[in-house]
Amino acid sequence: MIQPEQQRRAYLRALGIDVWVSRDQVDSPEVLATESADAASETLDWSGLRAAVRDCTRCALHKSRTQTVFGVGNEAADWLVVGEAPGAEEDRRGEPFVGRAGQLLDEMLRAVGMHRGDVFIANILKCRPPNNRDPAADEADACRAYLERQIELIQPKILLAVGRIAAQQLLATDTPVGKLRGRLHQYAGIPMVVTYHPAYLLRSPAQKRKAWQDLCLAMRVAKGQAA
Ligand code: URA
Repeated sequence: MIQPEQQRRAYLRALGIDVWVSRDQVDSPEVLATESADAASETLDWSGLRAAVRDCTRCALHKSRTQTVFGVGNEAADWLVVGEAPGAEEDRRGEPFVGRAGQLLDEMLRAVGMHRGDVFIANILKCRPPNNRDPAADEADACRAYLERQIELIQPKILLAVGRIAAQQLLATDTPVGKLRGRLHQYAGIPMVVTYHPAYLLRSPAQKRKAWQDLCLAMRVAKGQAA
């Protein structure tokens, strides 16, 4: 179980703030295990990172997954799309956003002139939470270093957080998506736009217009046309 202190330090690291840890905390085996794995992830290249994710046992989700879902797409993409976690279909196929929500994500990307192979698509969690429940805090903490390393390797021009979990995890906030979308944020110095999750848009198609506006904002940022 990841402790709140570790979560706080993970947030600070995500914000680019150096974290000093007292000797007492460093000596705790849980902290050592998590932090040494984090430190290892920080230097991995793509193949090392893929292997680390494939073999990951950092949280209990490894016991119920069929396979990890690393992410897919262009490793030098301008756009990094970040979702929540694999669902049943993604767990089965090993690729993010391949179910109905994924088809809508593909359509959304096509609407701004892109194909899924033009962007990189990843999730906050690399393993499926059972019964599609929300990621637990310790699961998100355990997985964070993998996404951070993906972001460092890709160096995208724009991060598109789709849905509440991705937006709130990356921004370390509990503000609702409706209040986060429609404007520019920063994650570790990278411009970030928040939009609705395609699964939500399938249930609430009237919100698609706002999602379209968010994608247009992201496109302007990626092209260097918006501050
Ligand atoms: N929803 C997500 O957030 N990610 C996936 O990969 C699939 C569905």
